[in-house]
Amino acid sequence: MTDENKDRVVIRGLRGVAAATTKTSFVEPFGSLYYSGYDIDDLVDRASYEEVVYLLLHNELPTKSELAALKSELFSELWLPDQVIERLKSASSGSHPMEVLRTEVSHLGEYDPERDDNSDSANKRRAIRLIAKVPTIISLLHRIRTKKNLVVPVKEFSFAENFLYMFRGKAADPEERDAMERYMILHADHGLNASTFAARVTAGTGSDVYSAITSAIGTLKGPFHGGASERVMKMLYNINSLDEVETYIQSMLDDKKKIMGFGHRVYRTEDPRSKHLRDIAEKLCQRTNNLVTYHKCKKIEDTVHEKKGIFPNVDFYAALVMNALGVPREFFTSFFASSRVTGWTAHVLEQYADAVLIRPTSKYIGEYGREFISIEKRR
Ligand code: COA
Repeated sequence: MTDENKDRVVIRGLRGVAAATTKTSFVEPFGSLYYSGYDIDDLVDRASYEEVVYLLLHNELPTKSELAALKSELFSELWLPDQVIERLKSASSGSHPMEVLRTEVSHLGEYDPERDDNSDSANKRRAIRLIAKVPTIISLLHRIRTKKNLVVPVKEFSFAENFLYMFRGKAADPEERDAMERYMILHADHGLNASTFAARVTAGTGSDVYSAITSAIGTLKGPFHGGASERVMKMLYNINSLDEVETYIQSMLDDKKKIMGFGHRVYRTEDPRSKHLRDIAEKLCQRTNNLVTYHKCKKIEDTVHEKKGIFPNVDFYAALVMNALGVPREFFTSFFASSRVTGWTAHVLEQYADAVLIRPTSKYIGEYGREFISIEKRR
């Protein structure tokens, strides 16, 4: 065994390790989030999702004409190749939407109209293509599964509005439109989180944008990442009344189980997205006469904080927002992906510009110098 291996220090889970530089977003541990220098609190109130897409891809807010050009490009990229539509129709009925999304994003790569062009401008166009097509894949899958007609997007609608329209087949009213816009802005990027890291690792090998986004989708799917919001909804179903909250949480903690939608690797205080999502959730629950679920969430939040000192993360109130917008639980993570694809592609473009292979090492802790025994003599 070499001393070099023995002396290696393992940073378990890469906690606190800065593995790349970025200009897209900055996660400040004491409760702030910035997209290219702009506070998320300002963006969520004053920007559109399309402005945020432009900001993350270019690190600058767009002018009116740049925004108009982006909107038009996004709209023109909402369509899907026939082969992808056929596969959506034949996807196994028991499969999870994130499994289907992972496969179809990879499949889309086969039909990229600029397959052999790896220039920066072609990759930027690919980013827009994916940002537009991911919500279409999800919407179409839902329409097919519920045996409903496909919905043609409306040019005058915003991107977020069209997504909800294509998914549900019903145009959003002003409150729903506002909620969806904010949801998309709040989920668009978040530093070097696990799925973004996966995308950057893939891009760092020089592989293509579709491969990088496929890696990211597979990573987001996990329950400790984007998959948490679906489990939050399950918890809300399992807790029948406000009176049951305390016992439920205590038994989860006694069993050393994680409460979904709580805790964070970076934030030491409340996740800055959480307060906005709580506010959106309260408004939506009020109008759908479902304040009882909102109050259940508030009680869970207070109880977990009191018992464990941790705060809700982005996935906790996002579950309530999705539910109030009529999105079925199994689609929650794919809505997250439909916004985060913007951050992923922005990071992939940065990774190509940096052109470095991301390849850490490991500390070997297995046996060493063993004598090889032929298969006939092994017992
Ligand atoms: N429920 C209960 N306890 C939690 C918790 C949760 N959701 N999240 C963290 N903790 C506790 C841990 O048990 C640990 O306590 P201890 O020191 O008494 O052992 C402490 O807080 C630190 O947690 P740790 O697991 O080391 O943090 P991490 O940075 O490795 O994990 C998450 C971060 C997000 C993976 C973790 O908080 C989690 O699993 N949350 C639930 C899933 C979720 O909501 N994911 C979405 C993330 S945006």
